[in-house]
Amino acid sequence: MPKIVFSGIQPTGSLHIGNYFGALKNWLEFQKQGDLCYFCVVDLHAITIDYDPKQFQDKILDTIATYIACGINPEKSIIFIQSKIKEHSELAWLLNSITPVSELERMTQYKDKKIQHAKNINAGLLDYPVLMAADVLLYNTNTIPVGYDQKQHVELARTIANKFNAKFGQTFTIPEHFIPEVGAKIMSLLEPTKKMSKSHNPKSYISLSDSKQDIEKKIMSAVTDSDNKIFFDPEKKPAISNLLSIYHLATGWTLQQIQDKYKDSTSYAQFKKDLANELVKLLKPIQDKKQELLKDKTKLLEILQASTNKAQEQAKKTMEKVKQKMGLI
Ligand code: TYM
Repeated sequence: MPKIVFSGIQPTGSLHIGNYFGALKNWLEFQKQGDLCYFCVVDLHAITIDYDPKQFQDKILDTIATYIACGINPEKSIIFIQSKIKEHSELAWLLNSITPVSELERMTQYKDKKIQHAKNINAGLLDYPVLMAADVLLYNTNTIPVGYDQKQHVELARTIANKFNAKFGQTFTIPEHFIPEVGAKIMSLLEPTKKMSKSHNPKSYISLSDSKQDIEKKIMSAVTDSDNKIFFDPEKKPAISNLLSIYHLATGWTLQQIQDKYKDSTSYAQFKKDLANELVKLLKPIQDKKQELLKDKTKLLEILQASTNKAQEQAKKTMEKVKQKMGLI
């Protein structure tokens, strides 16, 4: 049975390899399998932190182009911009009325963001997971492919859906997360015990649009330990284990094959050089395709029209059902 799959990424700047390996790469598998896939650019989520409205449209377009350049095919999958479909905000408001503030306050990402954006702790930052619940529940989603950091939000979406169904009658499908075994949490190149993140030092992540020189520089200066042995042990060797995971994800080689290749190495230099090369090989075609797509922004938006119409149709149906269940006219 084909599943209904929903996922999204915030257009907060160029995506990094954590977004790619943790999310986008796995989206392709669901598309390949013939599932009904919705891949959304979640612009309404991105405005909960300080941003520049003058650059925002470009970032949204950049994210759409990245999806397509990575292989998301608008003829097979539904690609759309969240704010184009007003039902996302509308359903989030209705779900707010059954979501305890205490549940939102215990979200790890909210706690982190409160510290990171201490001067802008707005209501949207707290309410963010309710909008995410609305995103997935509008489309009867079965599966949500995400990285590990979104697990708690998906659990909350399930809690909200169950609560709604219990209170107003069966309405929502209860979604499940899909979190990959490897790649769910790509770590920072500078602090390998922290998640790779767009909001940290650019040297700590590989952006999908980084040049060959940038990739080489960043990988060569990635933090490592001093024993010069290449083996996978996230506890004892978090930095090398992170690089090994990235190597595995970029090439498809097993961890064992990679460890065997470098078993006689007396330094990390060759391993890092090869890893940088593999990343360049992976990212170059994506970058070229993206540049091509961004040459004609009007056409890029036109490509989304059919997708947006399909998403709109489903969102409208769900909202009608929800309103009726809640006793609205
Ligand atoms: P966002 O934009 O922060 O991240 C997009 C996706 O990338 C994954 N990710 C990572 N995976 C592995 N290693 C990392 N270092 C890493 N960093 C990020 C994230 O887990 C995510 O899958 N709230 C979401 C966006 C969202 C959404 C949704 C997702 C809004 N509505 C509905 C699924 C379904 C977010 O902020 O992701």
